[in-house]
Amino acid sequence: MAMTGRQDRQGVYDRSSGRLGRALAVLRERGPMEPFRLVRQHGLRESARFVGRNVRHMIADRLARRWDRAHGVDTAGSIQLAMLDVVGPNRDKGNECVCTSPKSFGFIMKNLPRDLSDATFIDIGSGKSRTLLLASHYPFKAIVGVEFARELVAIARRNIAAYRSPSQMCRTLFVVEGDAAAYAFPDTPLVVYFYNPFSKDVFDTVLDNLVASLRETPRRCFVVYGSSSHQAIDWARPAIRASGMFEELAVPRMPGFFDAVRRIDYAVFRFDPASRSA
Ligand SMILES: C[S@@+](CC[C@H](N)C(=O)[O-])C[C@H]1O[C@@H](n2cnc3c(N)ncnc32)[C@H](O)[C@@H]1O
Repeated sequence: MAMTGRQDRQGVYDRSSGRLGRALAVLRERGPMEPFRLVRQHGLRESARFVGRNVRHMIADRLARRWDRAHGVDTAGSIQLAMLDVVGPNRDKGNECVCTSPKSFGFIMKNLPRDLSDATFIDIGSGKSRTLLLASHYPFKAIVGVEFARELVAIARRNIAAYRSPSQMCRTLFVVEGDAAAYAFPDTPLVVYFYNPFSKDVFDTVLDNLVASLRETPRRCFVVYGSSSHQAIDWARPAIRASGMFEELAVPRMPGFFDAVRRIDYAVFRFDPASRSA
């Protein structure tokens, strides 16, 4: 597979890196008339959309790198999986690593109850750990990432060790290296977070495992599913509903935050055995 982007110090290819440089290189190679040729070929509206998408991506990427510098961590970028060392058979079904933006995560968390002190937050496909770090500002009992790319696990563990903020409310953070399809959920109340990690068949397996775990040990569980590309919400939402386990909560539409590469479509579900037996 052809790689675009740069290989960074950690040895991972980052597609976000050097986006402007790549655009300038195309101009240099094909000449200054290239933009006009593209507008003729694709039409003004499609060309404007393309430029808009790229400008938005660059702004979000800058903000992500600024957030990283402020916290002494490395969570930015679009990291392709093809060159990474992946655990298990599901590499081709995984999506590249792009982290949830801080503003999007804060917006999603407003839909969850304030008292989460008995719950474990689990990010399925936790990438470089940005979401784990953001979750540490809420009073969870523990925060767990599950990630199958070994290089990303190593970066995430360094980030967790480096990250310190006076407003952190949970310091029990760790990453499990492994395929999410083989992950066994802990017996505590849960908040299970998915940000577009993989294809539907892997998701179905993880969801079946979660439902089996909740049947065996009934406990409160929230599932958050977010997606910004691949329209994954369109199959994830019906799959979660069809499990017959969860009720979907009414949530406000996510605004288009500047620190997000794209607006996130998301849904929040709850399983509460106490309200079921009432
Ligand atoms: C879109 S990123 C989300 C990153 C993180 N959850 C966040 O919101 O910041 C998807 C991540 O899922 C991981 N992934 C994909 N398939 C996986 C699998 N079967 N098991 C574990 N991790 C997986 C990828 O390596 C990637 O880091």
